[in-house]
Amino acid sequence: MKNKIILTKIFQKEAVDILKKDYDLIIVEGSGKDLKTTLKNNPDTEVIISFLSDKIDRDIIEISDNLKIISNYAVGYNNIDFIFARDSGIFVTNTPDVLTAATADLTMALILGVSRRIVESDKYMRSGKFKGWGANLLLGRELGGLTLGIIGLGKIGLATALRARAFGINIAYYSNNRKPDLEKKFDFEYMELEELIKNSDIISPHIPYSDDVHHLFNKNTFEKMKDNAIFINVSRGGIMNESHLADALESKKLFGAGLDVFEFEPRVNDRLNKLDNVIMVPHIGSATYTARLGMANIVIKNIKQVFSGKVPENLIPEHNVLKS
Ligand code: GLV
Ligand code: GLV
Repeated sequence: MKNKIILTKIFQKEAVDILKKDYDLIIVEGSGKDLKTTLKNNPDTEVIISFLSDKIDRDIIEISDNLKIISNYAVGYNNIDFIFARDSGIFVTNTPDVLTAATADLTMALILGVSRRIVESDKYMRSGKFKGWGANLLLGRELGGLTLGIIGLGKIGLATALRARAFGINIAYYSNNRKPDLEKKFDFEYMELEELIKNSDIISPHIPYSDDVHHLFNKNTFEKMKDNAIFINVSRGGIMNESHLADALESKKLFGAGLDVFEFEPRVNDRLNKLDNVIMVPHIGSATYTARLGMANIVIKNIKQVFSGKVPENLIPEHNVLKS
């Protein structure tokens, strides 16, 4: 008998084909049933392949006594009750590294798009407003000499910093653990969080979501930011109060914002829809062919490792007790 795997959503065809060949694969998306019902009907499920929009809570995790691994097709895994899973002896894995470049590229795209008002300009063209060159037409912010404040200098934060430097942007960062080697090597300036918020022209958090950082960006934070600053969020929507962000954009306290994630995803605060100084994209940070195939391959590799009796390679850090 083949091992049973539940895949919540359809992903890369190459990956689905491999899984179908080797395993008893059940796909939830399009089946007319939800994950919970599917699991109840298949209590011998050994693997769940989940996505960031799937809430994998205790109720779900407890259904199958045979569950061995929850393989999340994302680098973030705040959608999973990973502590409960870990303590129940279930591996939780994610897909780091392969999406670092894609996410850093998108961060730069948002920084450039907001600072040079690209989407607003495109709308201007399409609506037939362009009547001739203008010395004051759609002026934006020049990036050279600005300070980008990065919160969380992990892989994605670092990749973003290195890209930004090519534009003459100064890099400041705040991180739970200071990285003196990187500071020295790349001339990054460490600042305490409060200082970073007050002194950055562009702020981009690259931290995992947890209750501790819920609404890290709120009315207070936006008020402390420099006038005309740019706020970017490609991490998780829950770290910002979206309504307070809308206030800061409406009042022009901020020059603009670039958002890949939303507080109540997939819903968006309707006030944002009406603003020209925000660019919004639908959680596409890792959405390149290369990154997504890489993520699918990591998911498969980790599952295969578990079925051959190994500890999967991409365990989330909270499993470290097992690795050491
Ligand atoms: C995307 O948001 C991810 O966590 O991979
Ligand atoms: C997170 O990436 C941190 O280093 O604090």
